[in-house]
Amino acid sequence: MNPVVDKPELAEPYMFGWLDSLGLGVEYTRSKKDSLFRRDASGAEVEVLDLVGGYGSTIHGHNNPEIIEFTKSLLDSDSPIHAQFSRHPYANDLAWTLNTILRRELGTDENYQVIFANSGAEANEVAIKHAEMDRVLKIGEALAEVEAHIEAAVAAAAAGATVDASPLSGSTIDEVVAALRAANTERAATSPVYLAPNGSFHGKLAGSIQLTHNVSYRTPFSAMAAQCRFLPLEPDAVAEAIAAENRTLFDLAVDGGVIRVVERPLPVVSAFILEPIQGEAGIRVLDADALARVREVLDAAGIRVIVDEVQSGMGRSGAFFAASHLGLRGDYITLAKSLGGGVAKAAVTMIRSSIYRTDFELLHTSTYAKDSFSTLIASKAVDMLEADGGAAYRKAAERGDKLLAMLNSLREEFGDVVKDVRGKGLMTGLEFHDLSDSEDDILAEQAKGGLIGYMFSGYLLREHNMRVFPTASATSTLRFEPSIHITDEEIARTEAGLRGLIGLIQAGDGKALLG
Ligand code: F0G
Repeated sequence: MNPVVDKPELAEPYMFGWLDSLGLGVEYTRSKKDSLFRRDASGAEVEVLDLVGGYGSTIHGHNNPEIIEFTKSLLDSDSPIHAQFSRHPYANDLAWTLNTILRRELGTDENYQVIFANSGAEANEVAIKHAEMDRVLKIGEALAEVEAHIEAAVAAAAAGATVDASPLSGSTIDEVVAALRAANTERAATSPVYLAPNGSFHGKLAGSIQLTHNVSYRTPFSAMAAQCRFLPLEPDAVAEAIAAENRTLFDLAVDGGVIRVVERPLPVVSAFILEPIQGEAGIRVLDADALARVREVLDAAGIRVIVDEVQSGMGRSGAFFAASHLGLRGDYITLAKSLGGGVAKAAVTMIRSSIYRTDFELLHTSTYAKDSFSTLIASKAVDMLEADGGAAYRKAAERGDKLLAMLNSLREEFGDVVKDVRGKGLMTGLEFHDLSDSEDDILAEQAKGGLIGYMFSGYLLREHNMRVFPTASATSTLRFEPSIHITDEEIARTEAGLRGLIGLIQAGDGKALLG
């Protein structure tokens, strides 16, 4: 007999302690569709309506029977899960399907190459690494041209041309060339800069965290990776940010018997990254007109656009790519979360063929990426969205409209509590008015601490068996991201829970909310 050991909590114990204090430290033992199940003190199973949906990973619902059956058949078939560095026709099939959808929704003939990854953050790092590789290669190409011009200048000097060293120093051609090369070496090493709209969230790895606006996540790691400038989605702001990063390389030009030092642009801004519907910032659909004008500015400056569809993609918005509602075709597009069918960890980065640098395939690899298990499940999840002429997209739009209409009716009825309702399809959010000035000490304290949304979550779980979380960087916004299978009855349950919550906020009863 093994002695019963009281195991200390070693798996992120502080997070667990915090969740527990808010009544969120619940263990779920089963899941299906939009439900998670827990056991109460008597051991009876309790159903919880799950509106978090694996943070957007379960567009087909938890343990979707078709996906589970497919997964079981995969495991029963003994097909190799790990056969790195071999032919992977299944990966190509997924790449083709994604390209077919992209052509349909974003109206292009151009293919996109697909790189496989394991998580949303990694897919974004693939995009920023590729954009940076492209920038570095362009700098190399520019320096090679400068060398050719140096050669021509040296020949011209030998033939009697004079040298104007300004703004560098030196009186002979050799001295000027030495000064120019030294200056260019220093300038070519300028760190890249990324641009992103305020509020962006793109992951928490060393590179992607610098593209994530939230300072508490980002600043401890600022020294580790390239920096991002966050700005409003306005053409002037973007043009200004680009101008602020203007740098040059030195070059030589021979003009009428005089060798002069001239300057040529050095690319510094590596890419512009955005979410078509911002998630962590509080569920905000980007403005299509503003975006189109920003895109013009970026195109004029030759800056690539990375469209992060990790959360908004896979049909959640009512189209496969949320960017298709905005008429935005990215140079890079990333997908993850629901791509894994709620079962696997799968992510991809799609890269426009015309900008694709083939050597990148050797530079970014991962043991697990492109394994047959997750890739075949990803194909299954995508095929299920595409089935019946895209019935799933219509369902996402219709269910989303119903959910949004309910949330909007609450806003109309309780404008004193509900500040705003936003979203598209099954990516919706409800923002509460700030309660920092509340006369209730608990409400004021939680609001000031940025934790009020988690307190609301604890209440909804405890009293209404409803699982809802705030968006991480805008904690007075609750997010609702159920599957396409959410029912009218479940939307009505959501409304009832929210009415209970709103009633207690109106009563200023923080104690009841904290439990
Ligand atoms: N991009 C977006 C738009 C995301 O919402 C997330 C994650 C990521 C990238 C990173 O993906 O976690 O697979 O590495 N969002 C989570 C959320 C944290 O709260 O929805 P990951």
